[in-house]
Amino acid sequence: NYIRVLRGLDNLESKLKHELGLKEVYIVPGSEDEAKAQQELGRRAARLLKEKLENNDVLAVNGGTTLAAVADFMLANNGATDITVVPARGGLGEEVEIQANTIAAQIANKLGGRYRLLHLPDNLDQTVVNTLIQKPQIKEVLNLAKEADILIHGIGTAEVMARRRQVDSLELEKILEAGAVGEAFGYYFNQTGEIVYSTTSLGVQLEDLKKKVGKTIAVAGGKKKAGAIISVVSDEYQDMLITDREAAEEILDLL
Ligand code: F6P
Repeated sequence: NYIRVLRGLDNLESKLKHELGLKEVYIVPGSEDEAKAQQELGRRAARLLKEKLENNDVLAVNGGTTLAAVADFMLANNGATDITVVPARGGLGEEVEIQANTIAAQIANKLGGRYRLLHLPDNLDQTVVNTLIQKPQIKEVLNLAKEADILIHGIGTAEVMARRRQVDSLELEKILEAGAVGEAFGYYFNQTGEIVYSTTSLGVQLEDLKKKVGKTIAVAGGKKKAGAIISVVSDEYQDMLITDREAAEEILDLL
């Protein structure tokens, strides 16, 4: 704690909490080395999850490299029992290592809990989506995710995410021209937090974060993500943010 005070992290946390209107903000010291910075975020988020999870909880997770780091740092369980882990959304065009399904299974295994997966392709036609959500096996997982006790998700910059999902150049132009700066859950947000574009994918919708999901935790760091974090995070959707010093300082500069 003494070290945290010296580093000014406590002060930074309360400023950010106030500016973003969140209940809890956690800031790790961070590093200029992106891989190390991500590991620190992963370690902190894994610890926070263990502190927050209670017996019989349902945990919903999104994909991404930050969430993959959370799964890496999850320790074998010695706390809550009978945890069920589910992906928050169906596929979003990610490589298998960073898909929500993979991360859900890894975390569940570490916690000695169980997992339920969503095996769905991306960008399905709305009519196909409507049919699929009637299937009992899919419905069950979707309902678990929508009413999760805790949901943890990453945040990406709009451009990086659109490219990672290999949207074609016309679509990319459309997304950027609409002013998208940040992305989470397949939704693209502009600087003032409005949704300017979204991809169809089954699973938890942004609206669900307001009422159905218990606690929502966002985890994202690095100076480059500051604008994206501002665009995505709001007291309407998130309860907690885990970030690093680099992002925190930049966010306060930008706001
Ligand atoms: O595609 C899943 C996702 O959680 C996105 O919603 C988010 O923008 C992104 O991954 C974050 O990825 P990363 O942690 O690799 O930056």
